[in-house]
Amino acid sequence: MKPTRPFHQTPVIAIDGPTASGKGTVATLVAAQLGFHLLDSGALYRLAALASLRYEIAPDAADDLAALVGDLHITFREGCAQLDGVDVSNEIRAEEIGNRASAIAVHQAVRAALVARQRAFRKEPGLVADGRDMGTVIFPDAPLKVFLTASVEARAARRYKQLIQKGFSANMDDLLRDLRERDARDSNRAVAPLKPAADAKLLDTSALTIDQAVDQVVQWYQAQ
Ligand code: DC
Repeated sequence: MKPTRPFHQTPVIAIDGPTASGKGTVATLVAAQLGFHLLDSGALYRLAALASLRYEIAPDAADDLAALVGDLHITFREGCAQLDGVDVSNEIRAEEIGNRASAIAVHQAVRAALVARQRAFRKEPGLVADGRDMGTVIFPDAPLKVFLTASVEARAARRYKQLIQKGFSANMDDLLRDLRERDARDSNRAVAPLKPAADAKLLDTSALTIDQAVDQVVQWYQAQ
């Protein structure tokens, strides 16, 4: 079937922000409301991290990691993430995997190996993409870029709830320390650091409900 408009005009809403800022939930709900596809780019880094554990590739072995990432057999289906045909949606949410994902995401070779996979999610009628560099690197031409923030305390409280709900154990002090470490590493890395695109709209969700944050993003999109 012929596309209705050139690839680069298929709309993308880029939602970037630090870990546990609520971007995953907001992105999922915005995509559902608009009938758009969804890219959870953090899940790709988490799948790569899980695979690196399984294949015993060290987080600093950039070239081996990039080769592994190039060969990853990943599928996303109905909200489930599969690695080599096995559903690992829950497993990749563990803090250990998130921290390892952050560690392997510092390598340019790893990031480069994931670019094409991420851009392939851009399909009609549109895409909501969540991550760290959606607006700055992967979809710099996205018509709407949102940078979600929230205080580290609000984010730790959300992450705590999320982990307990998924059956993981969690400790508030450890979470606060991990979030601060992860923020510092994601923001200070040389390649594609976590930062708002120059044309991003900032949304602090510390005092907002999920619905309020979703409404704001949809309103920005429709106002265009
Ligand atoms: O969003 P998340 O917590 O699932 O992401 C896990 C890690 O993956 C995050 O700490 C850094 C990395 N990541 C990245 O570098 N770039 C992205 N676009 C998404 C995630």
